[in-house]
Amino acid sequence: MFINDFTKIVCIACFTAIFSGCKKDSQNKLGTVKAVVDEAVTKLYKTLTPAQLDTISDQYILQFLSENDKEVLATKFWTFRANVPVTVSLMRHTGQKVIPFWVENSGFKKTSMIVRNEEYEYEVWQKDFPKGNVGLGINGFDKHREVYFISVAPQNKEDQLQITDVTPAQYALDTLNIGAFTYHDWDGLVITELPAALKGQVLFTTVRGRAREAHLVNAFRKTDTPSGTNPDQVMLTWSGSPETTTDIQWRTSPEVKSGKVKYWGEGKTDTLFSDASVFKMEDRLLQNDRFVNRFTAKLTNLSPGTTYHYALILDNGNWSQPAEFKTAPSKKDDFSFIWFGDTHYSKIWGDMAKKSLKRHPETAFFSIAGDLVSTGLHRDEWDNLWDYSDSVFTTKPLMPVPGNHDSQDGLGAWMYKEMFSLPENGPGRQPTEMSYAFNYQNALFLMMDVTLSVPAQTAWIEEKLKNSNAKWKFVMFHFPPYNFEEPYDEIMKEWCSLFDKYHVDMVMSGHMHYYLRTKPMFNNKPVASPAKGTIYTMSISIPGKQERWPKEDYALVRYKDGPLYQHIAIKGNSLSYTCYDPDGHVKDQLFINK
Ligand SMILES: [Fe+2]
Ligand SMILES: [Fe+2]
Repeated sequence: MFINDFTKIVCIACFTAIFSGCKKDSQNKLGTVKAVVDEAVTKLYKTLTPAQLDTISDQYILQFLSENDKEVLATKFWTFRANVPVTVSLMRHTGQKVIPFWVENSGFKKTSMIVRNEEYEYEVWQKDFPKGNVGLGINGFDKHREVYFISVAPQNKEDQLQITDVTPAQYALDTLNIGAFTYHDWDGLVITELPAALKGQVLFTTVRGRAREAHLVNAFRKTDTPSGTNPDQVMLTWSGSPETTTDIQWRTSPEVKSGKVKYWGEGKTDTLFSDASVFKMEDRLLQNDRFVNRFTAKLTNLSPGTTYHYALILDNGNWSQPAEFKTAPSKKDDFSFIWFGDTHYSKIWGDMAKKSLKRHPETAFFSIAGDLVSTGLHRDEWDNLWDYSDSVFTTKPLMPVPGNHDSQDGLGAWMYKEMFSLPENGPGRQPTEMSYAFNYQNALFLMMDVTLSVPAQTAWIEEKLKNSNAKWKFVMFHFPPYNFEEPYDEIMKEWCSLFDKYHVDMVMSGHMHYYLRTKPMFNNKPVASPAKGTIYTMSISIPGKQERWPKEDYALVRYKDGPLYQHIAIKGNSLSYTCYDPDGHVKDQLFINK
């Protein structure tokens, strides 16, 4: 049953109710897929034990949902308007075991046609629709990532088809042809085989993350560290100047509605207070901690080069154990920082991070070059990340960049974004706090979200580099321009040419899960000294998994395996770079003098 038919039925069914002023009508209105699934999850938590949640099947869900809910799930997942009668072709991955419940019921017929891309085979189902609204249903209750996609054509070849009011609106319409991609989060995966009958039709692109919109079968997760009324996951970042600001973030359970920090400068008698903003973060399928409150207090007008003590207010009015941090000195002093390659919420990394802070207690801050977790919208992984690193970031700020794993199947990195309070000074027309710049003393740090458009960020990088008089220039982003797995031509052309032009000292990356330090590179060629070129590094905070180990001519030092971390110390005109293993053995070392 589709929107047109259903609207008719609702109108007839509610005709009496509407005119008798019955409230039932508003309750009966079709909702959204999200609202239906949100509510279903709430009801499932009330009805089933944790063990039973793991056993629910498609059949169970279908008898659990109301007829209205099922109608929403059958018609509201993908909607649009066609100005003429159309045939909708639905490409369903043959590897999906359960056909979405609404497909056959609604009148779609399986054809003998097959569509293929480089990885998957799709069977083609078709249905004719009159002109007007078309509504299609969910991809299923499993999380089958090879989600269906559709193409649309006018039934009468002479008709000029116009498609409007597409929801969700963010995924572009394209033309179905060999070479077209269907998933924005995997745009390298293109159609390789297509029946002539479908060629040239209007292609509705999508993202694999849509598989999660009604995910209920084998869906429920647990966190090892559910939130409570006492704050935890206390972490520092900077969204403003490291000399005069510090942001403090923490987590509680949702019953704690407000938060506050008290803080005082070392040796000072004044106690200052800062109210925190709060964000209620939901992970619907996290059965033992669906909602948490995340707090951010932004401390401003701090004195440079000063140690501050701080404590958080607890729900009972008491204060947490005080911790301390130090603002950046304003004179161009010496400093050091530590950065990690991919951490993937690993305990191995957490243990190494704790050891690194013990070994280098003077470190000014930490960075992570992306892939902090493996599934960016699973909050249990973030909980592990913070649990394993314990209080490392309670006294030292963490300034990360996101990796491909911190977003999820085309759904973005909103959990990462909400997790960190970072500078909002990145490239225009891009999501804020994802790419950003900060200065620490005489060093400039450009922190890039390389999962966003590379060309759209080039002008901003150039402006930052051109206008900086910092002695040291660092750029961090997840995808490494130099590696043996994958060429990053666009990054090379757009960004590395600027690193040459404005002499960036070092680029820090991750992603390939091995360690690399290149020779100084200029114009994609090795040069004699770091004064003439940029050094590209890539690291890893977990064990590696390289099966191939081909030669890399630009490489100076490589390791197949982690975990490793990098400590960079700056003293006036000299920089010392050291890569350590967790036990403090030096694995790589480099000195640069200016
Ligand atoms: Fe990655
Ligand atoms: Fe990774």
